[in-house]
Amino acid sequence: MLKKQELITAFRQVYGEATDLKAYFAPGRVNLIGEHIDYSGGHVLPCAIEQGTYLLIKGRDDQSIRGYSDKYADQGIIHSDLGDTEFRAGRGWFNYPVGIVDLMKKQGCSFNHGFDCFVTGTIPEEAGLSSSASLELAAAFAIKELYGLKQDKKELALLAHRVENDFIGVKCGFMDQFAVALSKAEYALLLDCRNLNYEHVPLCFDRVALVIIDSGQKRALAHSAYNERRKSCEEALALLQLHRDIDFLCDLSVKEFQHLELLLEDPVMLRRARHAVTENARVLQAVLELRDGSLAQLGQLMEESHRSLQVDYEVSTPELDLLAALARKHEACIGARMTGAGFGGCTVNLVVKDEVDVFIDYLAGQYHRETGEEFSYYISAAADGVKPVPLV
Ligand code: GLA
Repeated sequence: MLKKQELITAFRQVYGEATDLKAYFAPGRVNLIGEHIDYSGGHVLPCAIEQGTYLLIKGRDDQSIRGYSDKYADQGIIHSDLGDTEFRAGRGWFNYPVGIVDLMKKQGCSFNHGFDCFVTGTIPEEAGLSSSASLELAAAFAIKELYGLKQDKKELALLAHRVENDFIGVKCGFMDQFAVALSKAEYALLLDCRNLNYEHVPLCFDRVALVIIDSGQKRALAHSAYNERRKSCEEALALLQLHRDIDFLCDLSVKEFQHLELLLEDPVMLRRARHAVTENARVLQAVLELRDGSLAQLGQLMEESHRSLQVDYEVSTPELDLLAALARKHEACIGARMTGAGFGGCTVNLVVKDEVDVFIDYLAGQYHRETGEEFSYYISAAADGVKPVPLV
């Protein structure tokens, strides 16, 4: 956690004064298992992490809305007002809070004065840890509180998801916004993406740390490759729907899919659909293992998930494959896989808490020996979703 006084001082340095300030924190997320199936009606099992976005906000007397992010200090204070909440490329990161205001306005919320906000954070962008969902939810929660609006966290997650899809233009599934909004410390969030029902699944991680290894690879071409994967799944679904009454690919069990797979003549489409169906089954199994306290089995399922993402879904990279494979060889590692959209980004590793330092030294050494590269890393526990940060 960043220190309260540092946050207040940082706000004051930008805006001159810092009275009546409110602060909020929205985490990033890792996905334990259930990758690339939120848009195929699957189950996903993410949790929030301790790293995330802080947003400080203060009401104004006029109609201006202004934002400053210390990640983009070179852009200075970005100005807009309540009457001008269109997407504008020149607004950069501030489009996220502006998009939240815009959608809330369209939903009938009334704003009779503007605000100043200040953003800082502890997660890198483009690392696959949901920095944008984190910013969206920090802004949505802060704005709701500032104006005394009544949306609950699920409504805010839906709103943020719409901003990401329709305002920013990134066609993502529901997982990230739900994880950032609704996670609970020491639990994973089991989200059923067919109907958006969710429940919290206790993680028996007293002696386990989440170690997130950032390959540092920029996720080049990630957006177009992501959309291609979605399209393949939609096409596979359309073909299967000619023979079966299903709404989503993940409505099929693995057995049912095996009976139908001959219908998918295109081998690429077949592999994409097989990933979706088998990954959904792995999530349901993972929840049973967690409820049984069988961490070794969970680790096994994470390994299978990684392999499916590597071979069938083709969203991994050689670096992520290497990081996961090396990690698994260490005795302190219970499970390792790529996490998030892939094409770069991070692996998530379940590591025996007392052995985290030894594990990281080992992995850094081996990775450097094989690639000449270094990685950055984050250590976390499963954390709470978006929440206020007391400043007094
Ligand atoms: C990104 C998207 C999510 C999900 C994951 C892959 O994080 O935003 O909706 O599809 O990729 O599981």
